[in-house]
Amino acid sequence: MTTTQWDATSLTTRFQEVRAHTERLASPLSPEDQTVQSMPDVSPTKWHRAHVTWFFETFVLSEHEQNFSPFQEKYWFLFNSYYESLGPRYARPDRGLVTRPGAHDVGEYRGNVDARMLDLVAGLDDGTLHKLAATIELGFHHEQQHQELLLMDIKHVLSRNPLEPVYGGTRPQTCAPDAMTFVDVEGGLVEVGHEGDGFSFDNELPRHRQWLEPYRIADRLVTNGEWLEFMADGGYERPEFWLSDGWGRVKADGWRAPFYWTQHDGVWLEHTLHGTWPVNPGLPVAHVSFYEAEAYATWAGKRLPTEGEWEHAVVADGQADAAHSGGNLADLEHFHPAPAAPAGGEHRLRQVYGDCWEWTSSAYHAYPGFHPPEGAIGEYNGKFMSGQMVLRGGCALTPPGHARATYRNFFPHGARWALSGVRLADGGAPRVAA
Ligand SMILES: [Fe+2]
Repeated sequence: MTTTQWDATSLTTRFQEVRAHTERLASPLSPEDQTVQSMPDVSPTKWHRAHVTWFFETFVLSEHEQNFSPFQEKYWFLFNSYYESLGPRYARPDRGLVTRPGAHDVGEYRGNVDARMLDLVAGLDDGTLHKLAATIELGFHHEQQHQELLLMDIKHVLSRNPLEPVYGGTRPQTCAPDAMTFVDVEGGLVEVGHEGDGFSFDNELPRHRQWLEPYRIADRLVTNGEWLEFMADGGYERPEFWLSDGWGRVKADGWRAPFYWTQHDGVWLEHTLHGTWPVNPGLPVAHVSFYEAEAYATWAGKRLPTEGEWEHAVVADGQADAAHSGGNLADLEHFHPAPAAPAGGEHRLRQVYGDCWEWTSSAYHAYPGFHPPEGAIGEYNGKFMSGQMVLRGGCALTPPGHARATYRNFFPHGARWALSGVRLADGGAPRVAA
């Protein structure tokens, strides 16, 4: 991991900002809303709030607080997500069965750990603060990951409610689709991976060289209107577009449209965090799996970009810095993909940061020379480098400061509840790389 330079004041300020934001996201949700787990991949809101607190208690307070004792002994068992080296933990698919502690009790846990963290940081000498800041900063980015997951998960929870409750956000914008064009990229011997002093996760390292054949990459995401054409052409009924495993999922799970689409009286509707609305042809298609993205690309005579192609094209387009991208991230509070800005702006590539995480054709595995950190924190990323695909760019639920050109998100091939979409590529690498 790489880290930022911190002093006690800046670290404390950032800690308070990140922690307060989680509570702000949870604030529209009742204790009942916060308890439901609507499927095994989804975690209850109050579990997210408690787990990110457990992270600070475990990786910072337990190792550095004098006379440490946990807030509640059993919370260590309940709120450990996947760290084998820290001992047994409660089964993930059963998180929705835990009614106690309730949402209010989780708030008390958060308040207790917040106060102890602030006391700890205030009492550190410069040398210890310097060493500990990297772990605390990892805790910030970990909590931001869970802020995004909290929104993805509550979207699914609310989708199961026939009253179609609204979480927040704005009504999806209506717009006319504009033309997709392709940007030519020369490729060659390029460098990918994080560099510099700012924060990165371990899986973004080390920076290394890759060879890219010349390729073309789409200037915007695939829209709902284009996806409807795929469906009308038998996209979900013709096995020739699909990888074998993907076709198996189509048949086994009855896929016939993106995850949150339902059809009523011949009209396709889409569930959003702002209620259910007719599918808007000009908006990016969202909540499709890797298998669907791949099948769509094959139908369109294109392919998905590799993660190296995506990163290189974004940097070559002058968009290495996500902070200045103006992307549709969670701070805009649309909580849904937005139409692409008109072509002809400052950058050729549109919708790079925000809107939808973009599937790539790259399997999630270690960069050459990757070494996970020592200890339990080494379980953060490295052990998931099997059976998943890389996504790039961030989505409309991603907090600002949590999107980077080098950021490697990852989900299993069949995952659909994440806010994922499609950018096409052409030329260069082979079409299928699963
Ligand atoms: Fe976590």
